Amino acid sequence: MDRILIRGGNALAGRLPISGAKNAALTLMPCALLSEEPLTLRNLPRLADVDTFGHLLNQLGVSTLVEGARPEDFGRVMTLRANRLTSTVAPYDIVRKMRASILVLGPLVARAGEATVSLPGGCAIGNRPIDLHLKALEALGAEIELAAGYVRATAPKGRLPGGRVHFPIVSVGATENAIMAAVTASGPTRIDNAAREPEIVDLCRCLVAMGAAIEGIGTETLEIEGRERLHGATYAVMPDRIEAGSYACAAAITGGALELVGARADEMRATVDALIAAGVTVEERPGALYVAAKNGIAPLELSTAPYPGFATDMQAQFMALLTRANGASVLTETIFENRYMHVPELARMGADIRVSGRTAVVRGVDRLIGAPVMATDLRASMSLILAGLAAQGETQVNRVYHLDRGYERLEEKLSAVGANIERVSDG
Ligand code: EPZ
Repeated sequence: MDRILIRGGNALAGRLPISGAKNAALTLMPCALLSEEPLTLRNLPRLADVDTFGHLLNQLGVSTLVEGARPEDFGRVMTLRANRLTSTVAPYDIVRKMRASILVLGPLVARAGEATVSLPGGCAIGNRPIDLHLKALEALGAEIELAAGYVRATAPKGRLPGGRVHFPIVSVGATENAIMAAVTASGPTRIDNAAREPEIVDLCRCLVAMGAAIEGIGTETLEIEGRERLHGATYAVMPDRIEAGSYACAAAITGGALELVGARADEMRATVDALIAAGVTVEERPGALYVAAKNGIAPLELSTAPYPGFATDMQAQFMALLTRANGASVLTETIFENRYMHVPELARMGADIRVSGRTAVVRGVDRLIGAPVMATDLRASMSLILAGLAAQGETQVNRVYHLDRGYERLEEKLSAVGANIERVSDG
């Protein structure tokens, strides 16, 4: 397994490119199932999860051709062709590695009239059920059966009729599955209390480019007129707002200044507002976001919430930043029940954090000390990298395969702006 070594203390400075969004890519790729014509995705990030999703689609008979990727380029162009499906089964050995595999359920039952997908199971941050996905598909006319660890969805007459979906709680993935299932239904669909994340706006825009009829994009109420079929399209993946927020925290925690090229402030307003409240300078520039921290970090009270609230995917990174604040901060995680796995690892580096249920109190300390630490999940891993960038001495982050799921060429991007960081392979 690879490890990442960081010798902290350097203030980062320079321009850092932001890649395509992982959580947009993972819902755009299954859209290819909805048409017999090719879907070309540009600015696709070079990530382990994107590769895993490509392998899953290959198993269904979708070809995925990557073109024009020079080694020095960030991102890739992928053309996906689903003109002839060879399977409607998403197997356990892939789904267990990446729970986002569940996002083939909706488009597959819409395209083929049936889909059999392994239940994803839980992960480090929570048990993460899929009941909302299944209830939404039933509301659209699918028949659902659970057996032997798989869920099987079928459209009674081979095509979903559409219907009314109301989500009792906001769910990004369930909203995405419902949208992808509804765009080729034989009748209209209305979705209430839909998630509004920018990645869902990206999904809707890509589907509209493929010929779908969706009203209310970006709002919590979506009206969808089913189409007989969708045509191919070329679509560019949005920039990754969580990657951008993560590197903004890197600039802040090291007392540096970074220009995040490609970042869009209007898609990460809650993160920008939190940085400004912490005393960080944030300037919106054409096609970029400038982040600088010269006067220390002020403590914050933050509570995660569905978009446009403060993103749960930014909680661990801000916790790392706030370990160096001039005072005590309070973080509340309202989305997932176990998203504090980074706390004991940050404590090994000298952080002072007390967790009680969903709330963590972070008391700023004068310094962090580098140490060997263990990555447990994607965003927790990033919080350890951030702490290592600011710590005195060397930090060794183990199990960096977690990082490779969501951060494209992290050590290259950080080295280029002054970090003393290297990847060591045990292989
Ligand atoms: C997406 O996960 C993201 N993943 C997550 O990012 C992100 O943290 C999450 O949305 C919240 O923003 C992708 O887009 C691939 P949810 P998802 O359904 O769709 C509960 C990262 O680090 N729930 O919005 O799985 C669930 O347990 C990852 O990039 C049900 O109860 O999240 C959670 O408490 C981590 N039943 C809450 O809803 C369901 O059927 C929100 O989950 C579905 C979800």
